[in-house]
Amino acid sequence: MAKKKYLVTDALPYANGKLHLGHIAGSHLPGDIYVRYQRLKGHDVLHIGGTDDHGVPITLTADKAGITPKEVVDTYYPIIFNSLKSLGITFDNFSQTSRPIHHTTSRDFFTRLHENDRFDLREVDQIYCPSTNRSLPDRYVEGTCPHCKYERARGDQCENCGTMLDGIQLINPVSDLCDVPLEVRRSSHWYFKLSEAQESLEHWLKGKTDWKNSVLNYCAGWFALGLEDRPITRDLDWGIALPLDNSEGKVMYVWFEAVIGYVSSTREWAERIGDPERWKTYWHNPDCTLVHFMGKDNIVFHAILWPAMLMAHGDYILPTSVPANEFLNIEGQKLSTSRNWAIWLDEYLEDFSPDPLRYYLAAIAPETKDTDFSWKDFQARNNNELADIFGNFVNRSLTFITRYFDGTVPSPGEFASEDEALLKLLKETPKTAGDCFENFQVRAAVRELILLGNHFNKYFNDQAPWHTRKTDRDRCGTTLYVCAQAVRTLAVIIGPILPFTADKIWEMLQLEGTVSNQRWDEAGEPGVPAGHKIGQPKILFSKFEDVRIEAQIAKLGKPQTPAQLPLSVKTTDLNDPEKNPTIPIDVFQKIELRVADILSAERVPKTDKLLKLRIRIGTEERQIVSGIAPTYDPADLPGRQIVVVANLQPATIRGVESKGMLLAATNTDGDPVLLIPDTATESGAEVK
Ligand code: 2FM
Ligand code: ZN
Repeated sequence: MAKKKYLVTDALPYANGKLHLGHIAGSHLPGDIYVRYQRLKGHDVLHIGGTDDHGVPITLTADKAGITPKEVVDTYYPIIFNSLKSLGITFDNFSQTSRPIHHTTSRDFFTRLHENDRFDLREVDQIYCPSTNRSLPDRYVEGTCPHCKYERARGDQCENCGTMLDGIQLINPVSDLCDVPLEVRRSSHWYFKLSEAQESLEHWLKGKTDWKNSVLNYCAGWFALGLEDRPITRDLDWGIALPLDNSEGKVMYVWFEAVIGYVSSTREWAERIGDPERWKTYWHNPDCTLVHFMGKDNIVFHAILWPAMLMAHGDYILPTSVPANEFLNIEGQKLSTSRNWAIWLDEYLEDFSPDPLRYYLAAIAPETKDTDFSWKDFQARNNNELADIFGNFVNRSLTFITRYFDGTVPSPGEFASEDEALLKLLKETPKTAGDCFENFQVRAAVRELILLGNHFNKYFNDQAPWHTRKTDRDRCGTTLYVCAQAVRTLAVIIGPILPFTADKIWEMLQLEGTVSNQRWDEAGEPGVPAGHKIGQPKILFSKFEDVRIEAQIAKLGKPQTPAQLPLSVKTTDLNDPEKNPTIPIDVFQKIELRVADILSAERVPKTDKLLKLRIRIGTEERQIVSGIAPTYDPADLPGRQIVVVANLQPATIRGVESKGMLLAATNTDGDPVLLIPDTATESGAEVK
C-alpha cells in the first residue's frame, strides 16, 4: 500500500491546570491510538500538540494566584507534558502558544485574512468592570445562557448547550473577579465575517458523509440558525497583539489563534529537525490527511470557525476529519474540577501503571454518547480482561514453552483443523481490528481484542498441552508453536491501545527490532520461527485489590490536597540566576548535614511557632529551636528522625539556645514539613 501522510492534532489544553481524564478520553488517547495505528500501517504520521496559553482561563488563574500569566503557563507546561508522556501519549512536537513562533504565525495568518478583506472593524457594547477598570470578555463573565437558560454559562461559551457566546448576550451577567455591578461600554473590535463562509462550509461538509453524526448534526444546527460574524479581538493585555497600527490594547481572541497553534507547532517541529520548510509538506499538501481530535465542546471551533479561517486564508488544507468525542462522566456525575469531582492524570500515574487506564478509557470511550468512568468497573476490566484474558494467555503460553521446551519455540507437526482455524483468525485480525481504528471506533477495537483473547484461551484449554505433553509431544509442540504466533500477533495489534504491554511482550519474545516497527498488515502472519529462543516470561498485569480502588473512590469530591496546587511553588525562580546564583561544590561541602534522633520536644513559651527540641547526633546530645509548631504536636516528635545542619553557628532564639538547624520545606499552605530519611538511618549519618 502506498505510504500516505497524516497530520494528527490533539486539542491544546489550557495551561492553567493539570490534565484530568476528561482531557485524555476526549482527545489525547484517541489521537495517540490513531497515530500509533497509522504508523504501524507504515504511513508518514505527524502527531502535533501543545498547550493553549492565552485567553481568560489563564489570566483568571494568574489573577487568583497573584502571579503572572507567563508564570502560570510555564508552570503547567512541564506538568502537562510529563504526565502525557508517562501515559505513553507521545508527540512529534508539543509547543506552547505563548512562544514567538506562534505569535508570528498567528500574525501572518491574521494579516492574510485582513488583506483578503475578511474582517470588519465595529463599535460594540461590551461588559465593563468599573472596579478593575477593564472590559470583561469571555470567561470573566458568568450569567444565564440566552439559549438554554443554564445559569452558569460563561461569556465565551455555554458549557451546557455548547453555544458560542459573547459576554454581552448573557442574562444577568456577573463578574468572576469582584461583586460590583457591571457596566456596558463601547469598544471597537475586529469581526471575522463568518456569515460569508456559510455557503462554502455547508458545501464542504456535505462531502463529509463519513463524519460522526453528532458532529454533522451539530454543524447543521448552526447553519440552520445562520452563521453570524464573530468578534475575534479582545481588550486584554495577555495574548497576541494585532499586526495593525490602530490596535493598541487589543489581542486576538484565544479561539482565533489557538487553532493556528497546530500550524505553529508543526513549524516548530520542522525547525527543530533542521528542515524549516518541511511543515509545508503537510499543511500545504492536498494529499495529506488532517485529523483533529477533541471533545464535543470544541466542535464549533474545529468544524466551523477553523475551516472558515482556513478557507479565507487559502494556502492550507482543510480538516479531513473532526472525530469529536462526547464527555466522560465520573462515577455517574458530570466531571467538575471546581468540586474536585475529577480524576487527575498525574495522581492516577502515581498509583497505577499507564496501560490499564488506556485500556479502560478505550473500552468506555465516549464515542457516540457520554460514558461513565467507574473505579469498580476499571478494577473489573483490569482483573477480568487484562489479567485473566490477555495476561493469562501470554503467560501460560510462554511459561509452558520455557518449562517444557527449554524456552525454544517447538517445530510444528501437521496442523489439525483447530490449529488452522486459529492461524486463519490471526491472519484476519489485522483487517478486522484495523477497520475499527481506521473509523475511530476504539471501543469496537477493544471488543475485537477481547474476542480474540477468548479464542486464544479457549484454544489453549481445548488443546490441553499439559496433557498432550505426556501423551503426544508432537501435538503439544504444534499447539505451543501456534500459541507463540498468537502471542506475537497480539503484541502488535494491542500496540495502539497498550503500548507498554506490547513492548513487554516483544521483550519476552526476544524478537528482532521493536514492536512499533512492525507492519500492521503482516501482524497476522506466523512471525516466530520454530527453534527461536524466547526470553524470561513475566507477569503482564497484576490484579487490583479492593482497598486500592476504594482509596481512589474516597478521594472524589474531597478538597484538593496541597500537591494538586503546584502554582505556589514558583519553579521558574530556580532558573533565575539573580535569585539563585550557583555555588561551587566545595561551598556546599562545607555544610555538615547529619541525621539526628529527636529525644524530646516542647513549646517555647509565649511563641506560636517555636519548639525546643532535644536531639541526638550520633553520640552527641544537643538542643535546637525550630519553627515547626504549626504542623507538629511536640508529643508526636520524640523517636522521629530529622536532618540537621550540624555546623551552623549557635544562636539564641527568643532566649533559648539553638545549636543547629533542622531541614524543613514549606507546603502549599505555607506550613513547615520535615525532611526526613526515607528509612530508619543511623543517628549521626552524614547526608550528602
Ligand atoms: O477547550 C480547551 O481546553 C481549549 N484550550 C482547546 C483548544 S484546541 C485548539 F484550538 F487549540
Ligand atoms: Zn446554553
